[in-house]
Amino acid sequence: MTKLNIGIVGACGRGAKFKTACDATEIATIHAVCDLNEQELSGARERLGAREQYTEYEQMLDKSDLDAVIIGTPMHLHAPQAIAALKRDLHVLCEVTAGVSIDQCRELVLATKASKGIYMMAENYNYTKPNQLVKELVQQGLFGTPYYAEGEYIHELKHMNEHETPWRRHRQTGIDGITYGTHSLGPILQWMPGDRVKRVCCEGSGIRHIDGTGKPYCQSSSTMLCKTEKEALIKIRVDVLSDRPHSMNNYQLQGTDGCYESSRGGPNDKDKIWLRKLNKELTWTDLQAFETITELANKYMPQDWKEAGEAAAKAGHGGGDYFVLLDFIDVILGKRPPIISIHEALDMTLPGLISQDSITQEGAWLEVPDSRKW
Ligand SMILES: NC(=O)c1ccc[n+]([C@@H]2O[C@H](COP(=O)([O-])OP(=O)(O)OC[C@H]3O[C@@H](n4cnc5c(N)ncnc54)[C@H](O)[C@@H]3O)[C@@H](O)[C@H]2O)c1
Repeated sequence: MTKLNIGIVGACGRGAKFKTACDATEIATIHAVCDLNEQELSGARERLGAREQYTEYEQMLDKSDLDAVIIGTPMHLHAPQAIAALKRDLHVLCEVTAGVSIDQCRELVLATKASKGIYMMAENYNYTKPNQLVKELVQQGLFGTPYYAEGEYIHELKHMNEHETPWRRHRQTGIDGITYGTHSLGPILQWMPGDRVKRVCCEGSGIRHIDGTGKPYCQSSSTMLCKTEKEALIKIRVDVLSDRPHSMNNYQLQGTDGCYESSRGGPNDKDKIWLRKLNKELTWTDLQAFETITELANKYMPQDWKEAGEAAAKAGHGGGDYFVLLDFIDVILGKRPPIISIHEALDMTLPGLISQDSITQEGAWLEVPDSRKW
């Protein structure tokens, strides 16, 4: 295969962000764009260098000569649009989350199983440099056995909810529980390979904010506790309402032989790490310190990361938007197995959906279904 024709749906929004990465691959061509926004669609087509434009998604799937689609539309459309593409045996790279209900997720699994197309979820936070480095260090055994982790997505988005992307007002701040948790849970699950969340409980901090129409938002800050098959414990907090500085990349990992704490973005805050093998004393090392990151990166980062340099940096989200696409292309070409295929996508998505039931049952512990059994 010398060329991969890609169609982007949601091309006037998030979908457009994949252009830099597509260009860098040389093989991925943005062939068609689709968006409901007729006013901005021609501009998006020109900017993305696409040949064709559509306002109807199914029409793009049926008429355009595509190999794959990138789905960057609002969350509730992800599963139905992925299923429509998979039914036509197209490959799918879909934004997070995989689905907004258990029924949607089950249908998505069945469609993926029946399709010749590959499904991958675009969880770009798994691919940022510190998160990739921690993954590699875990794989090399430097953390020993990871058994505790925390992830937080704290990103005040009230204006966006009410004015720019009103779908968020329904899908992210109209429902109690963890509605947007994959950025936090995704990287953590890749640090606990072979494990999955088997049950969750969730509680909220109360309703502290109302929107411009006087309607209450969902609970301002929600925390989900996750118990995994291998007895690890994970704490996930999502808060897109509280007035405070952003902090979307908060992670902690504890293993038997090492621990990691990311910066929370404060003035003197740093990503820091302790690994028994490198430091007998129980003291932190600044992960970003030039010698530390260079030494660890040279030794442990995957070759792609070492070579990518500027192209990755330009693509957004700390290189995440670049590497997620690179993986997708490599998986289609058969160069590597999918890293975030359907079951990994649902391992990240289903706990949040179940947390939305838990929070309505006073924080009851509830089982998380295993999509591998569907
Ligand atoms: N991974 C990340 O870092 C990241 C960052 C931002 C957004 N997102 C995700 O990307 C998705 C889009 O977010 P956004 O902020 O760009 O939203 P947005 O509302 O700005 O953009 C979505 C676009 O989809 C279009 N659209 C809606 N329904 C459509 C349909 N039926 N057919 C064709 N086009 C349709 C809209 O017109 C709009 O241009 C969301 O799921 C969001 O969670 C992920």
